[in-house]
Amino acid sequence: MAGQVEGKVALVTGGASGIGAAIAELLAQEGATVVATDIDELRGPELVAGINKAGGKAVFLQQDVTSEARWVEVIADIEQRFGRLDLLVSNAGIAIAVPSIVDMTFGDWRRQTSINLDGVFLSVKYGLPLMRKTGGGSFVMMSSLAGLRGAAGLAGYSATKGAVRLFAKAVAMECAAAGDGIRVNSVHPGIIDTPIWGKIPAEATGNRANAPIDPEERAKLATPLGRAGQAAEIAAGVLYLASDASRYVTGTELVIDGGMNAGAITRKA
Ligand SMILES: NC(=O)c1ccc[n+]([C@@H]2O[C@H](COP(=O)([O-])OP(=O)(O)OC[C@H]3O[C@@H](n4cnc5c(N)ncnc54)[C@H](O)[C@@H]3O)[C@@H](O)[C@H]2O)c1
Repeated sequence: MAGQVEGKVALVTGGASGIGAAIAELLAQEGATVVATDIDELRGPELVAGINKAGGKAVFLQQDVTSEARWVEVIADIEQRFGRLDLLVSNAGIAIAVPSIVDMTFGDWRRQTSINLDGVFLSVKYGLPLMRKTGGGSFVMMSSLAGLRGAAGLAGYSATKGAVRLFAKAVAMECAAAGDGIRVNSVHPGIIDTPIWGKIPAEATGNRANAPIDPEERAKLATPLGRAGQAAEIAAGVLYLASDASRYVTGTELVIDGGMNAGAITRKA
């Protein structure tokens, strides 16, 4: 049976870890040729080696999504190798938590915005023209539940993710108006068990002196379904938005959060 994204060429940013790695693996399993990019030059090659060993098709390219010059090179490389780009998953992101927003340095605000928001802008600026050349495609932008609701300590992160949510909708309208066959949607994970939670204290302080956050512990109390999500459960949603099964879906937001956005329940001890 043909895979759900058979023959498509996909770029996944932040593809070396967590959600991005799960997306790269699932898209490859479903028949896409995957270009996984990341700043992590250790885990990225390991991931694509695993995909290729399992019979999939993947390459790793080093990419810092905040570098405009590197975006030009990465898209040119994809055009030269494959002649097309059908799917672009803008997934690379960091989270910086601070006790209060007034504790956030301007440098950290800018660094987080640069990766989480500027990186998504650059993915469209340079990815869209190549996607248009072959008559269509799908952009998936990784926002967050924090792009729909506020969270104390995460005001800067929320600002970037809320911006990604509306950026996706506006670009979706632009593509629809152009009739270019390109759909654009955002994905909003809740608490997902990935390495990002261990990095949150380090991102803010530059060291790992603070205890890492345990996502499972958090999710048990905060999530109606009573557990943290898995990266593969986000990848499943991305696959839907990437595949032709969602051909009538654009400008929407897919919330995958164990029910957190819907409300809260009181759990018996
Ligand atoms: N894990 C969660 O609970 C959760 C919830 C909501 C949204 N998200 C979002 O999902 C996305 C993936 O997060 P994750 O949980 O898999 O985290 P992760 O830390 O496991 O993976 C993020 C990847 O992005 C890469 N990256 C960081 N800065 C980069 C840069 N400048 N250029 C290129 N790559 C860079 C990292 O090296 C890493 O491989 C992020 O955008 C994050 O904000 C995660």
